[in-house]
Amino acid sequence: MSGIVVKEVERRPVERGLGLHSHITGLGLDEKLKAIHIADGLVGQEEAREAAGIMVELVKKGRRPGHGLLLVGPPGTGKTAIAIGMARELGRDVPFVAMSGSEIYGTTMKKTEFLTQAMRRAIGLRLFEQREVYEGEVASIEIEKSPHPFNPYAQVALGALLTLKTSKEEKTIEVGDRVASQLLRLNVRTGDVIEIDAETGRVVKLGRSKLAESKWKGEYRVGRLVDRPDGPVRKTKKTTHTLSLHDIDMANIRAGRALLFREEEITDEIRSKVDEEVERLIKDKQAQLVPGILFIDEAHMLDIEAFSFLNRSLEQEFAPLVVLATNRAVTKIRGTDLFSPHGIPIDMLDRLLIAKTKLPSRDDIKKILEIKAAADGIDLDPQALELLTDLGEKHTLRYAAQLLQPAKVIAEYMGSSVVKVEHVERVKGVYIDVRDSIRYLEDELKKDPVFSQFLK
Ligand SMILES: Nc1ncnc2c1ncn2[C@@H]1O[C@H](COP(=O)(O)OP(=O)(O)OP(=O)(O)O)[C@@H](O)[C@H]1O
Ligand SMILES: [Mg+2]
Repeated sequence: MSGIVVKEVERRPVERGLGLHSHITGLGLDEKLKAIHIADGLVGQEEAREAAGIMVELVKKGRRPGHGLLLVGPPGTGKTAIAIGMARELGRDVPFVAMSGSEIYGTTMKKTEFLTQAMRRAIGLRLFEQREVYEGEVASIEIEKSPHPFNPYAQVALGALLTLKTSKEEKTIEVGDRVASQLLRLNVRTGDVIEIDAETGRVVKLGRSKLAESKWKGEYRVGRLVDRPDGPVRKTKKTTHTLSLHDIDMANIRAGRALLFREEEITDEIRSKVDEEVERLIKDKQAQLVPGILFIDEAHMLDIEAFSFLNRSLEQEFAPLVVLATNRAVTKIRGTDLFSPHGIPIDMLDRLLIAKTKLPSRDDIKKILEIKAAADGIDLDPQALELLTDLGEKHTLRYAAQLLQPAKVIAEYMGSSVVKVEHVERVKGVYIDVRDSIRYLEDELKKDPVFSQFLK
């Protein structure tokens, strides 16, 4: 045994910050991977959606695309939205990790450690598990009980005698207090189909047997009806369970020592041990690697150190698909005086396929606002929608979209359940667009000789 644990870790959600994009449910492609103009909450941006869809197909098939994806386009044109659409298209157990380039500066961790963790979160390991279980329809059940020592209204289970039957056989098993108390708590009775893990003793109520039900008709309402299991009562069940490499790393620092400090470092030693064990599991066909997607928004915020680290990591055996997004044209690579397309070093750019998002048409702006309002449960008057569309066209889609929630609040305070023109007018009067905020400050600073130096 290598002493490496691959089970027993908590699951944490990998998707974050989806609130802004709650209307997006996928990439909206047809079976030939062509974008449907309006689908899955996305509107237009057909090329970028198809570019993203092809990458998702590769990832889903477990093939490693030779290149990452770079989404380029003006602010508010749906780059982040498309990345969220990619996440939604991936299978349930394929990891999707989203971060912003600036996040590497926000922690006490080393930048490369932060990126390593992000990459390892984006790689899954699908474990094939075989569990020994007892499964069958409860033919009879007798629970031995005694009064609870402290609570006179409760009883504790000491053990149980249980007969399980399948369409093939019937077996009587004796269980101890741990299993018996679960049987009591789950209120297991004859006619229920249950599963007991032979190793851990965990009891799962799978449902109510269809065959048993006829006898109980009318007595009480049942939950799920299931078939009476087939085959032997004691059997081996195959299941899968997916963890990220980062989950496994974490489980191993916990396993290694007492948890005195909260932020423990994952050493290279732990990681290479985990990798060895993972390779062994894969070779023994006990597990399968599931590379997912690492999405880095505002990629121009990464610095030269981060880029060169990413570049190297992508060559490694275990690597996720990297998707970057930026709204910068030519800009300085952070940490250097060098200018580069999108602030990304050329050797990194070589590893990326580029897709663009465009400024949306008036019709598309209108449609997006309509979808967003509906997703957020905001009832928009047609004229209010028209006004918001004007604002989206004149300023930005983002600005218009951001006014939706405040307009709803104003509407509520003015006693209306529908957002009308006057409500949009009010919020438009108090919140300004970023172009206006820049212009405003410039104009104000110019008036004063002292402050005007801030304009330089
Ligand atoms: N084509 C689209 N279809 C549906 N919703 C969209 C579309 N484009 C943008 N949106 C919505 O408009 C808002 C702004 O879009 P998003 O945040 O994706 O822009 P972005 O291109 O990532 O901008 P930035 O460069 O500033 O990061 C989001 O709420 C997004 O869901
Ligand atoms: Mg974005």
